[in-house]
Amino acid sequence: MHLRRLGKTELMVSEVGLGGAPLAREGVSDAEAIWTVWTALDAGVNLVDTSPHYGLGRSETLIGRALAERPELKKGLILSTKTGHYGAEKDYSYERTRRSVATSLQRLGVDRVDILHIHDVQEAEHMRELLKSQSAYTALREYQEEGVIGFIGVGTRSLEVLQVVVESGAFDCFMMANQLNLIEQAGAPIVQAALRADIGVLIAGAYATGILAKGSADPNARYRYQPASDAVRQRVAAIEELCARWGVALPAAAVQFCLRYGEGQTPPNVVAVLGARTPEQAAAIVETVAKRAPEGFWQELDEFLARSEMPQ
Ligand SMILES: NC(=O)c1ccc[n+]([C@@H]2O[C@H](COP(=O)([O-])OP(=O)(O)OC[C@H]3O[C@@H](n4cnc5c(N)ncnc54)[C@H](OP(=O)(O)O)[C@@H]3O)[C@@H](O)[C@H]2O)c1
Repeated sequence: MHLRRLGKTELMVSEVGLGGAPLAREGVSDAEAIWTVWTALDAGVNLVDTSPHYGLGRSETLIGRALAERPELKKGLILSTKTGHYGAEKDYSYERTRRSVATSLQRLGVDRVDILHIHDVQEAEHMRELLKSQSAYTALREYQEEGVIGFIGVGTRSLEVLQVVVESGAFDCFMMANQLNLIEQAGAPIVQAALRADIGVLIAGAYATGILAKGSADPNARYRYQPASDAVRQRVAAIEELCARWGVALPAAAVQFCLRYGEGQTPPNVVAVLGARTPEQAAAIVETVAKRAPEGFWQELDEFLARSEMPQ
């Protein structure tokens, strides 16, 4: 597995990481979730992302159990979790953040994590407020000084919040959700600005929450967490046709499309975080980067994206 430098954090992260949100999904057994984590790590993934929001702590707890049962997997592992969003509740206060991080460490069974993101702030003004006041940000900086947190990031789909993240210079990295994939490229300018500022970029939602892994014909394919519409399926079908002509698998195209954004940098510094809820899906994570698609494929894909309409 190729490693990439995550911007100024200097962390060397596998180009694809495991996203822990689906582990907490209804119907996923504890054993299956634990096996999913093991499969990803055994295959060479070295980053696992989670949040107290995912299953109200269940994702963190299951990852903690996976690591407790096989403690050798902690070696070299980069753990990323979040604070501020807990199910229906959001709380970015200083006090709650101190408690939230302490609980996350307990669930994960570790005494430090590498990356701690402020989770799901939606408005630029709110983020500016957090930077000015006694808030989640202050609590995270304190934890960082205490050595409990390696680096501080922001996980959100809000591009206006990510603009503040880049302009403020207050963060080491960010996780951008569902704004950059084969269907949606609104997040591309922010990623490029972050790379210029040497902010580490983790791209979440490379599969667009499912359809770019499952394909356009799969009745269970989702786009932005909802059943995929006909318009989205048609767009994916057109990309699949292009993939088939070049002998490239759709999930590989989806992931490598995101990774290409970091490739102008030396070494490349964009990584993709992919959600999986079964060992099979976890094993498929590394397959997406096993073989690079040829340059001619990317030229044709770029032309297709430039001339075709995004579905609304
Ligand atoms: N605000 C934030 O900070 C934020 C927001 C979103 C995500 N994230 C992080 O980024 C990670 C990735 O996002 P995501 O999980 O929402 O979306 P994603 O990675 O785009 O899609 C994950 C879904 O794709 C499907 N899938 C994965 N591998 C597959 C395979 N081999 N074959 C068929 N289907 C497959 C599964 O859907 P089914 O379960 O339907 O099979 C899975 O739940 C999250 O887990 C989380 O860690 C962060």
